[in-house]
Amino acid sequence: MFGDGSRSKQEEQKDYEAFRLFLEKSCGIILGDDKHYLVQSRLKKLFKDKEISNLQALIREIENKPFSPLKQATIDAMTTNETLWFRDRHPFEYLVSTLFKERAKVSGKDIRIWSAACSYGQEPYSLSMCADEARKSGQLPIGSDVKIVATDISKSALDKAKRGHYESLALGRGLSPERLKFNFKDLGDGEWELNSRIKGKVDFRILNLQDRYNSMGKLDIIFCRNVLIYFSAEFKSDILTRMHACLKPNGYLFLGASEALPGLTDKFEMVPTKPGIVYRAK
Ligand SMILES: C[S@@+](CC[C@H](N)C(=O)[O-])C[C@H]1O[C@@H](n2cnc3c(N)ncnc32)[C@H](O)[C@@H]1O
Repeated sequence: MFGDGSRSKQEEQKDYEAFRLFLEKSCGIILGDDKHYLVQSRLKKLFKDKEISNLQALIREIENKPFSPLKQATIDAMTTNETLWFRDRHPFEYLVSTLFKERAKVSGKDIRIWSAACSYGQEPYSLSMCADEARKSGQLPIGSDVKIVATDISKSALDKAKRGHYESLALGRGLSPERLKFNFKDLGDGEWELNSRIKGKVDFRILNLQDRYNSMGKLDIIFCRNVLIYFSAEFKSDILTRMHACLKPNGYLFLGASEALPGLTDKFEMVPTKPGIVYRAK
């Protein structure tokens, strides 16, 4: 049962269908027929905080209102922000062992990376740490720098990412004790603050992947990981076609470990990174 129980079973089903449509239209996320419980648990707090009686009332408030804070809060509640540091490791190792040097030859001073769907910041900050370490080890050529743009649709996730404060539990997911010690300051009570050297390399921006990518400029590398799984095949293909247009010649695209390119063999070629793969723009 959703909300205050004032809707019949049939009406609740209709409301759920309307909500599914709203979510797909506003951010591309596809909900299955049977995800009532998910919607219910994700929106429970919002219903309580905003005193919304049921799903129909919520939809009425947010439909056709592109900039409503309630719409933003609904999207924030419905996105899955699960993330970790150095996720799958090999994309980050391949950057340091191979791609920084290769892209420095093409781009010279600035190697530009886009972390699309960056969630709470673990992905772009892992990239920033890689660049910092590569600079010290000589794997990032002298005179080259790495600039990272990180985007997400969720304002609350971005606010957390920009702050750069993390709890021990989140830090334990993929970050080595050495990196923790070197890059964070212990604030006490299990909270740690990322240092400004790593933070300063990341420019966070709100961006719905449905929107235009013009403001991203030309990029050497795109990380678009663990987000395409929520979208339809058409939307995936549309995103990757437009990302291809943002890449510099022979630029690279990293997808999540369980994700694959839907066709698009005219646009990307597969490069084995042992383990894993990366896609190079044709
Ligand atoms: C599971 S997290 C992935 C985080 C990170 N890329 C990783 O691999 O660890 C998915 C992220 O995609 C974002 N997202 C979902 N739909 C989006 C959309 N239409 N535009 C931009 N970001 C979106 C969510 O807010 C969430 O932070």
